[in-house]
Amino acid sequence: MKKINIAIDGPSGVGKSTISDRIAEKLNMRHLDTGAMYRCVAYYVKKNHVDYENKQALQEALDQIHIRFDGDRVLLNGEDVSQAIRMNEVSMMASITSALPEVRQKLVSLQQEAVKDKGFIVDGRDICSVVLPDAEVKLYMDATPEARAGRRYKEYIKKGIEADYETIFQDIVARDYQDTHRAISPLKKADDAILVDTSDLTIDEVVETVLDIIDKEI
Ligand code: C5P
Repeated sequence: MKKINIAIDGPSGVGKSTISDRIAEKLNMRHLDTGAMYRCVAYYVKKNHVDYENKQALQEALDQIHIRFDGDRVLLNGEDVSQAIRMNEVSMMASITSALPEVRQKLVSLQQEAVKDKGFIVDGRDICSVVLPDAEVKLYMDATPEARAGRRYKEYIKKGIEADYETIFQDIVARDYQDTHRAISPLKKADDAILVDTSDLTIDEVVETVLDIIDKEI
């Protein structure tokens, strides 16, 4: 197969990361999780009490942030933050700090640089429209908020983490609102991205559907 990049956008909790990992493994590609990068910025801002509304303070913080992926691990300035960036308060902060133009500018250029030699599956919110508008395959994964909340709830229970469906559902609705209503790069299906509705599909079925699409597109 020729070297390509695959762009996947979609809302929170739709399973982009899981699917990207599985497709990357099958096609011998690498997965760039851009959400993890926005989470690193949010984690840093929270931990260091950065006044992100002050442009100079924000820029100084951004200059201090170095993100590295090491297999499944996410390293922020050398610290393994793989678990910490998944905490709910970091998710909510990521939705806020990802709306800041300085943050997007820094992360978009890092992402474009990281995948310029191709062979990547890149997932996020603005990949098809802003980061990789020329990607060989462009997908938009969607599912109802109920389906996404239900999956997340089951995932937590399975891991033995105490969870409340209603709280998870409300968080998903709140993040959807923030991600789709921000001024810069709001979450939106690019006109030429192919829609994959995963509401009624298992992970295996989504993987099959996506592999079929990739096959037809290249
Ligand atoms: O995908 P994930 O839920 O890990 O992303 C965390 C947050 O980062 C999202 O709610 C969104 O606000 C932001 N994000 C973004 N652009 C991307 C990826 C994530 O704005 N390309």
